[in-house]
Amino acid sequence: MSHASSPLPLTANPGKPLKGRISVPGDKSISHRSIMLSALAVGRSTVRGILESEDVLNTIAAMRALGARVERNDDGIWTVDGIGLGSLLEPESVIDFGNAGTGVRLALGIVGSHPIATTFVGDASLSRRPMGRVLDPLRMMGTQVVARSGDRLPLSVRGPETPSPLTYRVPVASAQVKSAVLLAGLNAPGVTTVIEPVPTRDHTEKMLKGFGADITVELNDAGERVIRLVGQPTLKPQDITVPGDPSSAAFPIVAALITPGSDLVVEDVLLNEHRTGLFTTLKEMGANLEIENIRETGGEEIGDIHVRHSALQGITVPAERAPSMIDEYPVLAVAASFARGETHMPGLAELRVKESDRLAAVARGLEANGVSCREGETDLTVTGGGNRIGGGSVTTHLDHRIAMSFLVMGLAGHEPVLVDDGAVIATSFPGFRELMRSIGGEIDGLREGA
Ligand code: S3P
Repeated sequence: MSHASSPLPLTANPGKPLKGRISVPGDKSISHRSIMLSALAVGRSTVRGILESEDVLNTIAAMRALGARVERNDDGIWTVDGIGLGSLLEPESVIDFGNAGTGVRLALGIVGSHPIATTFVGDASLSRRPMGRVLDPLRMMGTQVVARSGDRLPLSVRGPETPSPLTYRVPVASAQVKSAVLLAGLNAPGVTTVIEPVPTRDHTEKMLKGFGADITVELNDAGERVIRLVGQPTLKPQDITVPGDPSSAAFPIVAALITPGSDLVVEDVLLNEHRTGLFTTLKEMGANLEIENIRETGGEEIGDIHVRHSALQGITVPAERAPSMIDEYPVLAVAASFARGETHMPGLAELRVKESDRLAAVARGLEANGVSCREGETDLTVTGGGNRIGGGSVTTHLDHRIAMSFLVMGLAGHEPVLVDDGAVIATSFPGFRELMRSIGGEIDGLREGA
């Protein structure tokens, strides 16, 4: 399922302070993994608070096509009757992942070690993104692949009868690659080892442990994470509650920080240490941001984030922090536009291969709205504090986070900001516009009734 066919232009208007207590939809990374791991378990799992966005609905459709029974109850709780590892059915037709990089890459790991043929397609954005990073380790396990040139979608895979367990050093800082190898290793006899030189979000490791897999994580002498997974476990069904997505919380949080008079609490936000780099960075920039009511649920820390409008100061963001805030750079660049002085963001090579070339999309969006910036090959420098921010029109390139980031700019700027397509926001944050409106943010559709 791809997102709504016709683009939906949206305008954000500067205006009122943002005030209230809100919560954001469930974490996207954990939502995908909840459905996938439940589908591989034997028995019935339940998932509360799942993100019902297009990306996750595509994962649900994919797991159904592979034989799992996935249903939504009237009270919004999802049940998944797993099929068990090794028992996946061959899908009857092509699996469409729409815009979802995490969905397709993790699903490739799952089917890549099963002797079934699966064909994947996606939207124009996903069809441009590199899949070789997960296909390479799968090929080493014996998976046959037919892909468009450059290892792009559409592509088909067929796993071997007996996949070889693998020892794999992840060549880019990518939780998706790490997770795809571990998920493939689930159906291989013996031990699959993933070496992760740069730590990334660890939801797959934590959740696999929760589902009863024999998985260990140690640091080697070089300080790299070494993850060992014993293949062919019987995964036990779980009752999961998905915490609020910090990557979605980032939008109202930054909006409140840069809009004068704002005072906002975002409740129940996931605080996994591999996801909170933005909050650390904003504090270093002088943000009045407090994390309150910290507690634990399902092996993850969550808390409420209280922000008030703040005078921000430009900083250099350490490159090694990038994996813990990789999805937050577009909205950080917007925060930096309102900060005094320069904010330098190095270590951004991976932004070139997200839902869009995010480095270029952000730079063009800033320029269109009167913010000066320097776009390097792998870094971005934003000069903040200009006296007229806004008034521009931004091309979103099928990228939900570009759309939301520049709408946030429009709420705090001096002139409105137009984004050419807000429909794509549905891939990760259904109800974004209504939620922002509920705290005072004016975001309007240009189409009749939109
Ligand atoms: C994700 C990993 C990250 C992130 C994406 C979600 C995940 O991608 O950008 O939104 O759930 O594993 P990479 O693995 O490409 O860094």
